Amino acid sequence: MNIQDISTKKYFVFDAFGTLFKTSEVKVELTKIAGDKTDNLINVWRNKQLQYTWLRNEMNQYEPFSTVTRDALVYSMRLNGIADEKVFDILLPLYDTPQLIDGAKDLLRALKNHGKTVAILSNGTRSMLDNGVQLTGIQYYVDHILSVDDIGVYKPRPAVYQMALDQLGATVEDLIFFSSNQWDVSGASVFGLDACWINQYGETKEGLPFGSVVTTKSLGDLAAYI
Ligand code: 2OP
Repeated sequence: MNIQDISTKKYFVFDAFGTLFKTSEVKVELTKIAGDKTDNLINVWRNKQLQYTWLRNEMNQYEPFSTVTRDALVYSMRLNGIADEKVFDILLPLYDTPQLIDGAKDLLRALKNHGKTVAILSNGTRSMLDNGVQLTGIQYYVDHILSVDDIGVYKPRPAVYQMALDQLGATVEDLIFFSSNQWDVSGASVFGLDACWINQYGETKEGLPFGSVVTTKSLGDLAAYI
């Protein structure tokens, strides 16, 4: 697929956390508690959260993303020698009441104005996603919120990308999937979807299998192709 072909797609399906919603806003209150461990606390938390979803997939031990997210934070706090429970109140809202990444609202609005169908496909729980969409005011632009809660397995299991096709009634030709998470882009494109890697964190390309993938540097850059 060429990046110009994005405009021919009908269904625009977005990953949520890290792609539309921020996952690493460092709060002043957190630095007061965690000091120079703040960055490590957050990075280990996010990495473990993802790792736990993949391990739970392997073990057929699905628990909602809210539980996995808390379990990962408990581990990261233990690792970093932090016991102050205020950390939960500071960090868990990143997922329970998420904030938009710059450019997200403008892009979603532009997609609606072009008559596209917009969906979110996320590992997040339905309540996390509903809250995020409502609180950030993008409910006018998002037609469908698809949560892995419905099938009890996490991305990048092929069943999740199949669920998107099934629930939207879309064909592979009509749909493009957007994510800033490379493992997610890998999973979607190997499944057979056209995918767009939004490399908004300037990451190095992973040594994973990739199918049909185009790359942009930011959500804002995509506006030129819709
Ligand atoms: C998602 O929202 C975990 O960021 C990933 O599905």
